[in-house]
Amino acid sequence: MVLQRVGDFLEKTEVWQRRFFDWLVKRAKSDSIENRRFPVEPENVRIFMRIIIEPSSEYASKRAAAWIAQLIRRKPNCVLGLATGSTPLAVYQELIRQHRDEGLDWSQVTTFNLDEYVGLAPTHPQSYRYFMDEHLFRHINILPQNINVPDGRALDFERYCRTYEKLIQQAGGIDLQLLGIGSDGHIAFNEPGSSLGSRTRIKTLMRKTIEDNARFFASPAEVPRMAITMGVGTILDSRQCLLLATGRHKAEAIAHTVEGPVTSQVTASALQLHRDVIVVLDEAAASLLQRIEYYKEVEQTQRELEAAAAAFPPELL
Ligand code: PGA
Repeated sequence: MVLQRVGDFLEKTEVWQRRFFDWLVKRAKSDSIENRRFPVEPENVRIFMRIIIEPSSEYASKRAAAWIAQLIRRKPNCVLGLATGSTPLAVYQELIRQHRDEGLDWSQVTTFNLDEYVGLAPTHPQSYRYFMDEHLFRHINILPQNINVPDGRALDFERYCRTYEKLIQQAGGIDLQLLGIGSDGHIAFNEPGSSLGSRTRIKTLMRKTIEDNARFFASPAEVPRMAITMGVGTILDSRQCLLLATGRHKAEAIAHTVEGPVTSQVTASALQLHRDVIVVLDEAAASLLQRIEYYKEVEQTQRELEAAAAAFPPELL
């Protein structure tokens, strides 16, 4: 019965989908029962740039939070890369809710934040460490020793940046990196012109970024001019990247990122080179994409494939 349903579905699909399904079956046969469900472990498969367009920023944030929560449940000792800014706020609220109401357990999770302003102490209300404490860490059961946010007051920055990279490696690498995007197309603080192979280092902020972030400070003059940031290369090393963008003011950067050429002028475009990226957008952020209807169709097919895989009883394989 189930086989018939899957067969009917495959009749209507194209060759690549059949190949994909063959792969699914092969994997399921050779794998343990627990792992016979999507998403598969990212290191075992090249997936794609998956573009998910949700009707509102609320849905988009919930979708991103669900992805992160699913990873924590599947791999309780996972390593998460986290981001600051307005975009991830609703994601963190949902993760806090899941911790409170559904027992989402952070006790074995390790986190690495993308960046920090140079010169700000962790107790400074505009520091990213303070942001993370306020908006996530103090509401969940993560262990303080498992939290890593770059130290904006490090004295020997060059050495400190190398140490941060080493810490990520020692933790086993980042399983899932959450990313926002700047209106100039930056990821973390990798401003236009950053090398696509860059590692954690100090970066001078663009005037546009300073203006964008001035809303958190009393005046633009108070925004630090420099930040310590993971590099584009550091981010590309993550096993999976989850880019979240909401609002019309991100639409141009998203169009360049997804449909433009890979260029250091839009550092988020380097994600096109990553094997496993999920881009979660609301309609407003997706509004300048040329192939929006196609992405929606691809996502619909992906969901049908997942449903077919999930309905496939392992004992029949
Ligand atoms: P935002 O910042 O979420 O506050 O828009 C994103 C970014 O600059 O990376």
